[in-house]
Amino acid sequence: MLPTAHNAAKEGEIAKTVLMAGDPLRAKFIAENYLQDIHCYNSVRGMLGYTGLYKGKRISVQGHGMGMPSLGIYTYELYNFYNVENIIRVGSAGAIKEDVKLMDIVFAMGASTDSNYANQYQLKGTFSPTATYHLLEKAVAVAKEKNHKYHVGNVLTSDIFYGDSVSPLDWSKMGVLAVEMEAAALYMNAARANKNALCILTISDEVHSGRQLSSHDRQVSFTTMMEIALELAIE
Ligand code: HPA
Repeated sequence: MLPTAHNAAKEGEIAKTVLMAGDPLRAKFIAENYLQDIHCYNSVRGMLGYTGLYKGKRISVQGHGMGMPSLGIYTYELYNFYNVENIIRVGSAGAIKEDVKLMDIVFAMGASTDSNYANQYQLKGTFSPTATYHLLEKAVAVAKEKNHKYHVGNVLTSDIFYGDSVSPLDWSKMGVLAVEMEAAALYMNAARANKNALCILTISDEVHSGRQLSSHDRQVSFTTMMEIALELAIE
């Protein structure tokens, strides 16, 4: 079974907890700047993955690509073939609720979606993808300690970035905080495999105002979020 068509890691090369970012170069940045004794276990399709030590604890970081199908493949394999227990996604999102602003951190307690990813489970109703509570609770505690502005709530995981007729802003009437493209698939794969997941997001653009982060602020805010995720990873 191992390695897979998408991941060259051999058995035992990936830690129990994996931090994941859409952009594989973000994973490389985390590995090179925060981990010791790093070992690159994957470069298939450029989806870099590394295992190393953070404060003496073994963790892995890997890219997952854009959208639910891509994240779905990588996280399914990590949970079901590589015995990974915890996946923490660090990503960016567009704010759709007006009081959610650039640089704010959003902890995705739930992930609503316009995709039909859940159809595969053949449930007669609507499944609610949610974060794993103990990871969420700890993440909130770390954000409080760091005095960082954060929100906890529902996000929209959308299949559509360049939309023709629908706007993610429609979801703000249900209190949905922000839009991104992967959390719901992560939470569903975690639920199905009986594993743990959390998605942490930094607001990189405000859909409600059209404002966007500069590349400098993008880097700074990503660093804050990553440091929260790393503290969770060593729990
Ligand atoms: N839409 C979807 N995904 C995103 C956005 C957005 O506006 N910003 C960052 N990720």
